[in-house]
Amino acid sequence: MKRTIIAGNWKMNKTVAETKALIKEIAPLVAGAKCEVVVCVPFTDLDIARKALRGTDIKLGAQNVHWAPKGAFTGEISAEMLKELKVEYVIIGHSERRQYFGETDETVNKRAKAALEYSLKPIICVGETLAEREAGKTAEVVIRQINGAFAGIEKLSLKRIVVAYEPVWAIGTGKTATPQDANETIAVIRKALRKLYGKTASRALRIQYGGSMNPKNATELMAMPEIDGGLIGGASLKAEDFAKVVNY
Ligand code: PGA
Repeated sequence: MKRTIIAGNWKMNKTVAETKALIKEIAPLVAGAKCEVVVCVPFTDLDIARKALRGTDIKLGAQNVHWAPKGAFTGEISAEMLKELKVEYVIIGHSERRQYFGETDETVNKRAKAALEYSLKPIICVGETLAEREAGKTAEVVIRQINGAFAGIEKLSLKRIVVAYEPVWAIGTGKTATPQDANETIAVIRKALRKLYGKTASRALRIQYGGSMNPKNATELMAMPEIDGGLIGGASLKAEDFAKVVNY
């Protein structure tokens, strides 16, 4: 049985002091959780988060990584830098990065490869916009994103990768995909992975749902057979809400 994985995506929220306080609040509430628990904090909070997470089972995650090992890339952070701070997971290709920072399937692929090279575990995000959904293009879009993101990635690396299906129209909007819709699209994603890597590997890979997942809908979403976890934005910023999702 694969273990489910709930990750908090804090986005651009929480100062160093706030990070320390929030982790102290979260830790006892999620102790002994049946799922794997991750918090993906801003770069500036990684060090304090690493310290605050000591002695807990919560894993540390970042929200982006550059593909080059070092060099003239003002404002970027390398995989080696993350590794030094004991980061385990890294979100790659979040829709906000695709939308506001020019992230493409190609850069997602390059970032994922760099992360893997340094033994980081990528959480690769895919998902359609509202316009794409309304045009009936959901499957086409997520298949293109999956093929792009996984180009040249070996089967051996698959067990270290998590995919997050996040319909863009459901992120931060309070609109959730119905559990059935989410399940259906995740099945499409898994089928695309199966084409690339075969049945066993695609079945073993964990696929999260993300987009307004919260204490109220987590149980129902997590009950769906294709959903192996959640990527939680807004609800990960309040200890009690995040803990309720974790303990779905
Ligand atoms: P949300 O964000 O839970 O606030 O919708 C999810 C995400 O963007 O990862």
